[in-house]
Amino acid sequence: MYGDMMKNLIKKAAKDIAAAKRITALTGAGISVESGIPPFRGKNGLWEKIDPMKYAHIDYFLQNPADVWNKFLKEMRSVISQAQPNDAHRGLAKLEEMNLLQTVITQNIDGLHQMAGNTDVIEFHGNFAWLRCLECNAVCQIGDADLSEIPPKCSCGGLYRPDSVFFGEMIPPLHLKRSHEIASACDLMLVVGTSALVQPAALMPVIARNSGAKIIEINPEATPLTGSTSNYLLMGTAGEIMNNIITELEGIAA
Ligand code: APR
Repeated sequence: MYGDMMKNLIKKAAKDIAAAKRITALTGAGISVESGIPPFRGKNGLWEKIDPMKYAHIDYFLQNPADVWNKFLKEMRSVISQAQPNDAHRGLAKLEEMNLLQTVITQNIDGLHQMAGNTDVIEFHGNFAWLRCLECNAVCQIGDADLSEIPPKCSCGGLYRPDSVFFGEMIPPLHLKRSHEIASACDLMLVVGTSALVQPAALMPVIARNSGAKIIEINPEATPLTGSTSNYLLMGTAGEIMNNIITELEGIAA
C-alpha cells in the first residue's frame, strides 16, 4: 500500500480529474505490462533482447521478412493474442463511462483499450491485429494467418506485413493530425506507461502543456517529461494507481 504522500497525490489526481472538462490519455507499453506484454525499454524490455533498428525497422523487414517474422513478429503475435485488459485499461474505460475521459491516444498495437471499453482510441502506431498484403493491399486478421509458412503470404502470392508502424515509417497522417488537435484542446492529460522517448508521440504531452493542460504521469519511473512538462508523477504501477484513483473518484461522486 501507499505512504501518506502517495495517498495525498492520488487524492489530488482524483480532484484534478473530477474538475477537468476535457481529459485525454496518452499511453505506452507500460500500461500493458500487467497484461503480460513486455515493454520495449527498461526491465525485461524487448529491445534489450533484439535490436529495434533491425527487427522493428521497415527497411530490414522488406529485405529480411522471414528473419523479422521469426525473431520478432511471431513472439509479438503469441503474447498479444493471449493478453487481456488489466486494471489500468479498465480504469481508463471507467473514466470514459463516468464521462471524465474522451480520447485515448495510444502508442500500443495490442487493442487492449478497445477491449476494455474505451470507444475513442487513436492507435498512433497502428494495430497488430491486422496483416496487409504488400502487393494487393488485401487485409487479414493475424489470428487467421497461416504461419506454418514464414513469411506468411497472401493468396495473390504477396508478402503480408503487420498493419502497425515500423521505425522508418510515417505515423498515419490522420492519426497525427487528430492527436495534435486533441492534445491542444484538452485541459488534462494522463500520461500512462510511456518512457516518452519516441517522437512524435512524446510531443503530445508538451503540446497539451503548452496549451494550458495539466499533465499527470503514471509510471514506476521518472521520464524526460517529469519535473518539466508533467505537473506531477504518480510513481507506481498503472493498475494499482488507476484502481486507487477510481476509488477516490467514486467517493467524490457519491
Ligand atoms: N505501469 C506503468 N508503467 C510501467 C509499468 C507499469 N506496470 N511497467 C513499466 N512501465 C513504464 C516504464 O517505466 C517505461 O517508462 O512503461 C514505460 C515503457 O516504456 P517503453 O517500453 O519505451 O514503451 P513506450 O514508451 O510505449 O515506447 C514507445 O517505442 O519502440 C517503440 O513502437 C514502440 O510504441 C513504442 C514506442
